[in-house]
Amino acid sequence: MPVEVMPEKTFYRRLEGKIAIVTGGAGGIGAATVRLFTNHGAKVVIADINDESGLSLATSLFPLATYVHCNVSSEAEVQTLVDSTMSRYGRVDILFNNAGVLGSQSKHKSIVDLSVDEFDKVMSVNVRGVALGMKHAARVMIPNKTGCIISTASVASVMGGMGPHAYTASKHAIVGLTKNAACELGKHGIRVNCISPFGVATPMLVNVDRRIDCRIYEGNI
Ligand SMILES: NC(=O)c1ccc[n+]([C@@H]2O[C@H](COP(=O)([O-])OP(=O)(O)OC[C@H]3O[C@@H](n4cnc5c(N)ncnc54)[C@H](O)[C@@H]3O)[C@@H](O)[C@H]2O)c1
Repeated sequence: MPVEVMPEKTFYRRLEGKIAIVTGGAGGIGAATVRLFTNHGAKVVIADINDESGLSLATSLFPLATYVHCNVSSEAEVQTLVDSTMSRYGRVDILFNNAGVLGSQSKHKSIVDLSVDEFDKVMSVNVRGVALGMKHAARVMIPNKTGCIISTASVASVMGGMGPHAYTASKHAIVGLTKNAACELGKHGIRVNCISPFGVATPMLVNVDRRIDCRIYEGNI
């Protein structure tokens, strides 16, 4: 009996014509997502603070990807990111709120040693950045009555002991923001979700593993 072959487009071009913004898109999970989205036919705006990597990736994918410098903890920069995407493409279909930082504290560092500056810095990128992304994406998605906002939470959103205290608190907060925004934006046809990866071998994880290895070694001598 002949096997029915589905058209390639059915499987491989699931984002044809979509306009996406990927924050933290210059490296790690974000860069892999940019490549995946463009493979599926989306046009992607890479938003990051790592201009060299962001521009290099955008150039390699041109004209499907462009790069915009954007520190997600700055409302002015997030607003400009969304407005410039609207000017260029006329809409935003997908926001992948992915930029995040681990913070310089190791997961073994005691709460007694918590640094307020470090805590605020992690929260400003991981939580304020996600909230600002939701705010400005929703602003342009609501009139279109459609859109998809995805944020990168973490296994540290659902389990303790998986990362530094500030990081774990920030990732729990992303789940709360996602639930609240989903409740509000669903009626406008906007889906709001987050994903919670376990360990992925990106610069973020590889670098922290090195620090932990050094500390264990130092503790043993
Ligand atoms: N790697 C893992 O194991 C893992 C597991 C769970 C969740 N996550 C989450 O996945 C997301 C991506 O992490 P990754 O592993 O790819 O890390 P990564 O460090 O490889 O990449 C993060 C990217 O975000 C950018 N960035 C950092 N601060 C920014 C800011 N203020 N504004 C804009 N961009 C900024 C960086 O320049 C970098 O390109 C993060 O939110 C992280 O917390 C990672």
